[in-house]
Amino acid sequence: MIQNELDNLAVIDMDAGEIFSGSPSGRIIKGFATPCGFTPNIDLDYLFHDSMREVVVWLLTTPEERADSLYIFGPTGSGKTSLVRQLAARLNYPVFEVTGHGRLEFPDLAGHLSLHNGSMAFQYGPLALAMRYGGIFLLNEIDLLDPATATGLNGVLDGGPLCIPENGGEIINPHPMFRFVATANTNGASDDSGLYQGTLRQNIALMDRFWLCEVGYPAPATEELLLERVASSIPQDTRKGMVLFANEVRRLFVGESDTQKHGETIEVTFSTRTLIRWATLTIRFQPLARQNIQPICYALDRALGYRASRETRAMLHELAQRMFATAQATTNTP
Ligand SMILES: Nc1ncnc2c1ncn2[C@@H]1O[C@H](COP(=O)(O)OP(=O)(O)OP(=O)(O)O)[C@@H](O)[C@H]1O
Ligand SMILES: [Mg+2]
Repeated sequence: MIQNELDNLAVIDMDAGEIFSGSPSGRIIKGFATPCGFTPNIDLDYLFHDSMREVVVWLLTTPEERADSLYIFGPTGSGKTSLVRQLAARLNYPVFEVTGHGRLEFPDLAGHLSLHNGSMAFQYGPLALAMRYGGIFLLNEIDLLDPATATGLNGVLDGGPLCIPENGGEIINPHPMFRFVATANTNGASDDSGLYQGTLRQNIALMDRFWLCEVGYPAPATEELLLERVASSIPQDTRKGMVLFANEVRRLFVGESDTQKHGETIEVTFSTRTLIRWATLTIRFQPLARQNIQPICYALDRALGYRASRETRAMLHELAQRMFATAQATTNTP
């Protein structure tokens, strides 16, 4: 069934403006006529932020112009993976996705022999599928890969074919719609903070083959809109306070808050992922308000606080008490 869908993928021209902003722009972007089993579902709550522009410019490069591969880096939970998925969903691109780790090897990407109905058959991996049928090969956490394994991708990143010795020396030439996107928390030059454990400095020749794109946390107005969509029952002032709180924690994490001494930092940060969790848990724990437990602080511990040291947690509580002391109600519902 899925094989059939992949065989029948048809490339079409779309109007980029119509797809991403609702009004025609005359800029043509290539996409696929219909989604297939590998196309991500559209998330209607997803809000495209400023960083999206850069990825769209990258996608606008026609197959003849052959864009470099894209390396998206930025802090955890800022929306890197979901940005690629959601752009792909709008263009009906199949996404062949894999998450990097220290023991990932080339056959995990290209494919391997496996037992099928009593005999050995070759199973294509995500990279081989993307190169063969067209679509995005999304390699998440590329900086966790052993640099020697990652460097094995150089030929493919140069636009060359994929050679699969395990499948009788098959050679797969890249489909014109093949796209390669890597995401990571570091820029490939290792992690200064020591918090992204397991990341490795990548080979400079590998990194030289990428167009780099940094995705930071969305602007406050975007995160406020996001909370309005996912947690509309929380009053607007409180939602705004939550975004302010998240940004203060981000400043404390990088040592840029007015309230801390030079060189002092905390060990946790507030991702967009955590912010959404905090808001949804606040709604779930709303009944605790009847027992004089403030849902917003209770949810904060479950969303973030328990990951921090005792001192940081106490500091987060104190900050939350100060910022939300005047919040009369945590949700609009009785
Ligand atoms: N702009 C946004 N609109 C809606 N949801 C978002 C947005 N940005 C992030 N999210 C949500 O936050 C969560 C984390 O996003 P995502 O997995 O894309 O982050 P990431 O940057 O890839 O993180 P990591 O570095 O940990 O892999 C997802 O559930 C995603 O839907
Ligand atoms: Mg990710």
